[in-house]
Amino acid sequence: MERSQNNSPVLAIMELANLVSVPMSLKAVIKLQVLDTIWQGGSNNPLSAAEILSAAAVGPGGDAENLQRILRLLTSYGVFNEHIGEDGSQRRYSLTDVGKALATDEKGLSYAPYILQHHQDALMLAWPRVHEAVLDPSTEPFVKVHGEQPYSYYGKNIEMNLLMQKAMSGTSMPFMKAFLDGYDGFQGVETLVDVGGNSGDCLRMIMTKYQTIKKGVNFDLPEVVEKAPKTPGIEHVGGDMLKSIPPGDAIFMKWILVSWTDDECKQILKNCFDALPSGGKLVICDPLVPNHTDDSRRSRAILEADIFVMTMYRTKGKHRTEMECRELGVAAGFRNLKANFNIDHYFTVLEFQK
Ligand SMILES: C[S@@+](CC[C@H](N)C(=O)[O-])C[C@H]1O[C@@H](n2cnc3c(N)ncnc32)[C@H](O)[C@@H]1O
Repeated sequence: MERSQNNSPVLAIMELANLVSVPMSLKAVIKLQVLDTIWQGGSNNPLSAAEILSAAAVGPGGDAENLQRILRLLTSYGVFNEHIGEDGSQRRYSLTDVGKALATDEKGLSYAPYILQHHQDALMLAWPRVHEAVLDPSTEPFVKVHGEQPYSYYGKNIEMNLLMQKAMSGTSMPFMKAFLDGYDGFQGVETLVDVGGNSGDCLRMIMTKYQTIKKGVNFDLPEVVEKAPKTPGIEHVGGDMLKSIPPGDAIFMKWILVSWTDDECKQILKNCFDALPSGGKLVICDPLVPNHTDDSRRSRAILEADIFVMTMYRTKGKHRTEMECRELGVAAGFRNLKANFNIDHYFTVLEFQK
């Protein structure tokens, strides 16, 4: 067999056919508290599957051999390091940098809630119906299954609402650190509005850097801001961004446009335009798709998320190219768009001015 095994079409197909095992195994190790059990606040000592099961607070018993099967798969996807004893008998596992990002940090945050949120039972019922988004784009597969849009569905379920907030906080913190190091454009702003700001974490971090901001407005759905933690200087305002947006000197909007159709985005951006004074800035942070499709990890991560959006939020909501975002901003009346691709691996920062 001359050809490199990694180029074998048969192996590629067999891997693709069972690829769903990877996120399901990730969900399993989060539910079984494997990551926090190994991490132990930073010790990261290699543990065997049996040692993990006896130390994790997930109840008595458990099959160590089956857990080891899951750990081996996730080792091959870079979540764990495998340590084999000298006699070859015992396998132990520690966390790689990927695994560490899933362990709870000192602030109680991690990427784990994002994985749990994406693999909730309600979403898993809709996800296999991707093909229906092609055959009938008038109704999202999620809506076909549950009879309503995900945000109103979450709003009625306190557990899902809180998981969504934890998922957003856990994924936003690392981006916000990079954003605050790499972006300097809120100088002199006194009132900043975060549109779709969820728990208000992003706003709080921005206001810690920019002491000139006297008032932060965290604008989100009423049922979301109701559960948001109270923070000095931040006013939580409930409403609908498609109807109107509270006024401010500048607007921050992260991970919002992907969930809406072009027409809805135009309406949201028009509402942002109306909420700003002349010269006011709108800063959008969204994952952008590249013009040319490639097999880079970034392209794959964003294109996979695009299928999620198509199935759950809007069949015609989408991850856009820089040009598509620029056109939406210009259609709402904005000018002077600057795009910065170098601040973060996943999100691009787009700046518009009224
Ligand atoms: C993907 S989350 C992004 C949250 C936050 N900006 C972040 O990046 O961490 C989208 C947010 O938009 C909010 N949202 C959805 N529909 C909305 C609407 N019609 N009006 C205001 N907020 C809305 C959701 O509740 C959610 O917090």
